Amino acid sequence: MEHFGEAVAAGYDDGGGSEFAAETIARTVDFLHAAAGGGAALELGIGTGRIALPLARRGVPVHGIDLSPAMTERLRAKPGGTQIPVVIGDFAEATAPGTYRLVYLVFNTLMNLPTQEAQLACFRNAARHLAPGGRFVVEVMVPELRGLPHGRNTVVFDTGPEGWAYTEYDTVTQRADCHYLRVTPDGRGTRRTIPFRYVWPAELDLMARLAGLEARERWGGWNREPFTQESRAHVSVWEKPAEAERPAACD
Ligand SMILES: C[S@@+](CC[C@H](N)C(=O)[O-])C[C@H]1O[C@@H](n2cnc3c(N)ncnc32)[C@H](O)[C@@H]1O
Repeated sequence: MEHFGEAVAAGYDDGGGSEFAAETIARTVDFLHAAAGGGAALELGIGTGRIALPLARRGVPVHGIDLSPAMTERLRAKPGGTQIPVVIGDFAEATAPGTYRLVYLVFNTLMNLPTQEAQLACFRNAARHLAPGGRFVVEVMVPELRGLPHGRNTVVFDTGPEGWAYTEYDTVTQRADCHYLRVTPDGRGTRRTIPFRYVWPAELDLMARLAGLEARERWGGWNREPFTQESRAHVSVWEKPAEAERPAACD
């Protein structure tokens, strides 16, 4: 997975964005700890363990799936990292052993799956890993199309002395390419592009239904802020019904 290869993995934990703030991590872990309800959890796209490690320290047995050996090596190198089993594979289809009370996918990582088909496969894979009554929690941005200047298809989301970043939207394919431009002190520039597929909350609810999951909660953030028209991201929770009440998943 070239987007999370050695070069990105080496600097991932120094990212410095708000997602790495202790406060953000604590709120995320509080939410997921409650959602796990005393059971085990599976993180899709576990990466370097930004969330998995503090969640495990709270007593939740955590497993992971990730495509990137470079990212998971960083996880293993951290205290407690070797206690977290990780399957190397695509979280739309790879299988981890056992079933879980909680499957979670945070930090917009669902959008790394480039097609609707792959995102739906991910919901089905999450559902397969859940025990009856278990929960699938997703944190993902709300597509920023309202922020597009009239007639333009790009939104700048980060500017600073060392560079800037912007997203280029294609509203036909729902593709959103994030471009990161950096200028090194010696004046040289680098450019990195990560392709995403943006996805609407209602579209996710339909994917969940197709996977046999029921919508339970939607929040504007990890503090359970109300989800409103102004929310820039959401934390959504779907539940796998207990056996007796489960509708057949649609293929
Ligand atoms: C933005 S990082 C998030 C890591 C971690 N969840 C966190 O919150 O810090 C995305 C991670 O998802 C992994 N990833 C992206 N697409 C994937 C896929 N289709 N299957 C498995 N892992 C994937 C990447 O290798 C990377 O480790």
